[in-house]
Amino acid sequence: MLEPELPPTLVIDDDDVVRKTCVELLEARGHKTLSAASVGEGLRLFAEHRPAAVLLDLRLPDGTGIDVLRELQRQAPGTPVVVISGHGSVAEAVEAMKVGATDFLEKPVSRDRLFQILDRIFHPPLPGGETDLEKVADGSRYGMVGRSEAMRRIYQLIEMAAPTKCRVLIAGESGTGKELIAGAIHALSPRRDRPFIELNCAAIPSELIESEMFGHVKGAFTGAVGDRKGKFEAATTGTLFLDELGDMSLTTQAKLLRVLQEGVVTPVGSADPRPVDVRIVSATSKNLQEEIARGTFREDLYHRINVLTVAVPPLRNRRDDIPELAEHFLRLASVENDLKPKRLSPRAVDLLVQMPWQGNVRELRNLMERVVVLVAKDVVGQQEVMDVLQMPGLRAEETNPLPLRQARARFERQYILYRLTANRGNLGNGR
Ligand SMILES: Nc1ncnc2c1ncn2[C@@H]1O[C@H](COP(=O)(O)OP(=O)(O)OP(=O)(O)O)[C@@H](O)[C@H]1O
Ligand SMILES: [Mg+2]
Repeated sequence: MLEPELPPTLVIDDDDVVRKTCVELLEARGHKTLSAASVGEGLRLFAEHRPAAVLLDLRLPDGTGIDVLRELQRQAPGTPVVVISGHGSVAEAVEAMKVGATDFLEKPVSRDRLFQILDRIFHPPLPGGETDLEKVADGSRYGMVGRSEAMRRIYQLIEMAAPTKCRVLIAGESGTGKELIAGAIHALSPRRDRPFIELNCAAIPSELIESEMFGHVKGAFTGAVGDRKGKFEAATTGTLFLDELGDMSLTTQAKLLRVLQEGVVTPVGSADPRPVDVRIVSATSKNLQEEIARGTFREDLYHRINVLTVAVPPLRNRRDDIPELAEHFLRLASVENDLKPKRLSPRAVDLLVQMPWQGNVRELRNLMERVVVLVAKDVVGQQEVMDVLQMPGLRAEETNPLPLRQARARFERQYILYRLTANRGNLGNGR
C-alpha cells in the first residue's frame, strides 16, 4: 500500500541481464516497473499501463527500436523514451535521438548513468518546463502567489504529484514556502478529506522521535503509562508531512526505511506490526546530497523518499514574484488586523525587489505585517518601509520565531518606541 503511485517505467529489452539490471536500479529509486522482452509485449504493456517513461532496446527479436519509438510517440507523445544502445548500434541511437528519444543509455548499463538520466526525467532542474498562463491568471493558487517561471513549474509539479501517492521531497531554504506546497499537494489529492499530519524531525529529541512516529505501548519505557498512537497511524489514509527530514538521526532513518519497505509500523515496545496506508511528503532545508556525501543521510532512504523533487528557489532568485507577494501579504495583514487596506508606492516596491531576503517569503510576510500595523499612511512609501526595517530585533525573529507571548511583548515595545520617535515623544492617540 505504501508504494508510490506514479505510473510504472517500462523496460523493453530482450537481453535478460540488461532488463533485470534496469529493473533493479529503477526499483532502488522507488519506481514501479514493467518489463518486456519483445516489441509485441512491450507495445501491449505500453497501451495497457501508459508508463511514466520507457527504456527501449534498439534491436529486438521482432522489430527495431526506432519503429517502436515512433509508435510510442504516436500513442502518447511526450512520454520520455530512453534508448538502450549496444556495440554496433551507435548510429541507430543517433537516429533515435533525431526521431525524439529523450536520451540514450549505453550497454553495459551503468548505475550512475541511468540515475543521471532518471534525474533529468523525474527531477528536472529549475526553472523550466512549459508554462500555462491561464492557470495562474488569478495570481493565486492553493493560497500560493507568484507567476515567475519557477513558481509555474512548482504549480505543475504539485498538480502532477497530487493525484498520485508518489513520495515527494520539497527542498528549499527556510521560509520559501515548503510547508505551503506540502499542504497544497494534500489538498489537491484524493486524500484531501483525510488527515494531514505534520512531524517536525528537527523539533523532537531523538529519544522521542520513534515513539512520535510509530507510537508506543503501555510500559514500553518509563513514563509510557498507556498505549499511544504514532503519527504514522494518525495519518493513515491521509498524508504524513515529514518536515526537516535532514535532521533525522541515522538510527531513525534506518527505522523509517524499513517502514517504507515493508509498509508496516511497529509501536515502540510492541512485537505486533500494523499495516499503514500513508502518503509521505517530506521537506528539507539541508542539501541531502551533501548530507549523503558526509555520511549523515542514507542514500537508500533518499531515493525512496524522493520519487519526485520540488525544488523551491530562494526568493532572491525569483524577484519577479516580490511585488505580487508584497501586495498579497499587505492585503492579508489588513484584513487580519481589521485595518484599512494600504498600497505600496512604486519606489517602495523597488526597494523590496532589491532587498536580499535571506529569510525568503516568510521575511517578506513579516515585514508587510509590520508595515500594516506601524505605518499610518494609506500609501506606504520607501521611507516608511526603511523606518520599519530599521527597527531593532526584526531580523532575529524572521528565521527563528519567538513564542507568541514574547514576540508580542517585543513587538509592543518596538511599536511604542516607533510611535515615540515618529511623534517626537508624544504617544498621541494611536494612528
Ligand atoms: N508562494 C507563496 N505565496 C503565498 N504565501 C507564501 C508563499 N510562499 C511562502 N508563503 C508564506 O510564507 C511563510 C513561510 O512559508 P512556509 O512556512 O511554507 O516556509 P518553509 O519553507 O516551510 O519554511 P521553514 O523551512 O522555515 O519551515 C508562510 O506564512 C507562507 O504562508
Ligand atoms: Mg516549514
